[in-house]
Amino acid sequence: MSFMQINDLNVHYPIRGGFFNTVIDKVYAVDGVTMEFEKGKTYGLVGESGSGKSTTGKAIIGLEKITSGQIFYEGEDVTNQRRNRNSAYNKDIQMIFQDSHSSMNPRKRVLDILAEPIRNFMKLSDQEERKRIKELLAIVGMSEDVLLKYPHEFSGGQKQRLGIARAVACNPKMIIADEPVSALDLSVQAQVLNFMKDIQNEYGLTYLFISHDLGVVKHMCDHISIMYKGRFVETGTRHDIYRNPQHIYTNRLLSAIPNIEPETRLERKVIRQKVEESYQKEQHQYYDEHGKVYPLKSISETHMVAMTGGI
Ligand SMILES: Nc1ncnc2c1ncn2[C@@H]1O[C@H](COP(=O)(O)OP(=O)(O)OP(=O)(O)O)[C@@H](O)[C@H]1O
Ligand SMILES: [Mg+2]
Repeated sequence: MSFMQINDLNVHYPIRGGFFNTVIDKVYAVDGVTMEFEKGKTYGLVGESGSGKSTTGKAIIGLEKITSGQIFYEGEDVTNQRRNRNSAYNKDIQMIFQDSHSSMNPRKRVLDILAEPIRNFMKLSDQEERKRIKELLAIVGMSEDVLLKYPHEFSGGQKQRLGIARAVACNPKMIIADEPVSALDLSVQAQVLNFMKDIQNEYGLTYLFISHDLGVVKHMCDHISIMYKGRFVETGTRHDIYRNPQHIYTNRLLSAIPNIEPETRLERKVIRQKVEESYQKEQHQYYDEHGKVYPLKSISETHMVAMTGGI
C-alpha cells in the first residue's frame, strides 16, 4: 500500500518578453507527473540535465509552486500544506540537495546547521538537543570534533554526509535525494550509497533518488521513472528498465552508462554509436508532432511506456 501519491503534477514557468513584458510562452518543467510511494522502497527519477527532476523534487517538498496537481500523504490532500511548519508532512518529508554546499549557510557551524531542523520540529531541552546532534554525527560516521567547524572546512563527501545527517535529524519517513553523489569521486560515491542503504534498512526510510545516470541508481532502486522534458517516458521495476527497456530514450540513457571495465570499452562505444544513430533516425516515432512525450500506457502490471498505439 502506498502512503503517498502524486497526481498529475505540473510546474510551468512563464517566459516573459516583448515590449510589455507579457507572458509569451511557458517552460513545461514538470508536465503531468504521477507517482506513488510505498514505505521502505527506493524510487529512481532519472533523466538528462533540464528534464525536470529537481523541479519535481522541490515541488513535492514544497519549495516550488505547483501549477496544478495534488499530493496525498497518508490519505490526506496536503498540496496546500507542504510548507506549513506545523504539518506532519513538513517534518516527515526531507530533501538532500543537489548542491549540498550552497544549501548550507556558510556562516553557520555544524552544530547550528544540525540544530535547525531539531528546533523547528522537536521540542527538546538544550541537553537533549546536544545528545541528538551527537547521535546524528554518529549515524553518518563523523566525530564530535566537527561540531564547531564551518561547511567550507569539509570535503564534498563529508558535506554530503552532513546533508544526510540534517535530513534524518527529525526521523523523516521519506527523503528526496537530489543527485546525492554526483559531485563525488567514484570511491566516495560507493561509500555514501552504501551508507544511505544502511540507514534506510535501519529506519524503514523511503527514498526518491534523483540522478542523471542510470548506472548510479541501478543497485539502489526498486522502481525507476525515466524523465524527458517534464514527462515520464517509461516507468517500471529495476528489472523492467534494465532488462526490458522499451522507449528509445531509455535505451539511450542505458547506453550512456559510463564503463569502468577497459576490456569492454570498445564494444560499448560501438553499441553507444548504434543506439545514437537509431535515436536520431527513429526518435520521431516516440514523440508527437510537437516533440512531446506521449501519455504512458501499461504493458505489464509494473511497466509503463509512453507510446502511440503503433509502437
Ligand atoms: N525558476 C525557473 N524559471 C524558469 N525556468 C526554470 C526555473 N527552474 C527551472 N527551470 C527550467 O525547468 C527545466 C527543468 O529544470 P530542472 O532543474 O528541474 O532540471 P533537472 O532535471 O534537475 O536538471 P539537472 O540534471 O541539470 O539538475 C529546465 O528547462 C530549467 O531551465
Ligand atoms: Mg537538478
